[in-house]
Amino acid sequence: MTNLAIAANGLRKSYRGKNGDKVVLDGIDLAVPEGTIFSLLGPNGAGKTTTVQILSTLIPADGGTVQVAGHDLARKPDDVRGAIGVTGQYSAVDKLLTGEENLLLMADLRHLSRRDGRRRAAELLERFDLVEAAGKPASTYSGGMQRRLDLAMTLVGDPRLIFLDEPTTGLDPRSRRSMWQVVRELVADGVTIFLTTQYLEEADQLADRVAMLDHGTLIAQGTPEELKRLIPGGHVSLRFADQHHVDSALRALGTGFLDGDALTLQIPSDGSVGSLRRMLARLDDHSIDVEELSVHTPDLDDVFLTLTGDPKDAVR
Ligand SMILES: Nc1ncnc2c1ncn2[C@@H]1O[C@H](COP(=O)(O)OP(=O)(O)OP(=O)(O)O)[C@@H](O)[C@H]1O
Ligand SMILES: [Mg+2]
Repeated sequence: MTNLAIAANGLRKSYRGKNGDKVVLDGIDLAVPEGTIFSLLGPNGAGKTTTVQILSTLIPADGGTVQVAGHDLARKPDDVRGAIGVTGQYSAVDKLLTGEENLLLMADLRHLSRRDGRRRAAELLERFDLVEAAGKPASTYSGGMQRRLDLAMTLVGDPRLIFLDEPTTGLDPRSRRSMWQVVRELVADGVTIFLTTQYLEEADQLADRVAMLDHGTLIAQGTPEELKRLIPGGHVSLRFADQHHVDSALRALGTGFLDGDALTLQIPSDGSVGSLRRMLARLDDHSIDVEELSVHTPDLDDVFLTLTGDPKDAVR
């Protein structure tokens, strides 16, 4: 059995408001295996930051049981704190200090010796491509540099479980990709990542498992591929050498639509291995050669919009 870095059951949180309690998390269950990337997806106000704040001991839950890094969150918050790192949605960088000073301050907070602190800071500046900027105040850094420094500060304590709350919001495509690369390297080293994002593409790129949060409940959970199979719209494109093959394939499969060049058929499919195998076996039975095959699965945006109701509502 794989160990879980995070196991939450029935997590609840409400805020008291003028018009009664506002339920932010309405009993959510999470299971994050060690050494994987888990992504919590949801629109503004869905409860992503609240979840991160609870799991990282910053605010208490109203109900539910949670184990983080093997420790009970309610009974052993200090042990949890010692095992995790958090990069919040809003930067923890002190803009008046230089990049290096920010890192050394962090090393101090983590009780590293002066020597170890300096060594760790130098390593991280190198790794995050901040050597040249190290001596300049962080206020002069670009958004991407500040985000990298923020994550570098989280890594000073060498945590095995890291919470990243919307790490790439507001970054340009290049900075986003370099952030993704860093996340992938961390996981390759065995670190567990709990990442929130509003970008479905980001979850698709990075996450082993995804949970979609909407109005305080998880509306779907699974691998990106599993989630995409939840909704219709997927198809397989088959290209044939000539018209004769196209006609034979249509007869053999009993379904399909002509696409573009008239030698390509679109077959509705969930894209699963089983259904592909059956389709190819049937073509084989009729000795119909396929020149080219591609699978088109819906993306996570389609899944989210379908599961949260009328797609028109989402853009309004
Ligand atoms: N301290 C608080 N007091 C009252 N309500 C709060 C508090 N913190 C958060 N909320 C409410 O809880 C809900 C969820 O907020 P949260 O910040 O967790 O959402 P989020 O998914 O992180 O959104 P975003 O994508 O905008 O960061 C929102 O409706 C928010 O207004
Ligand atoms: Mg948030």
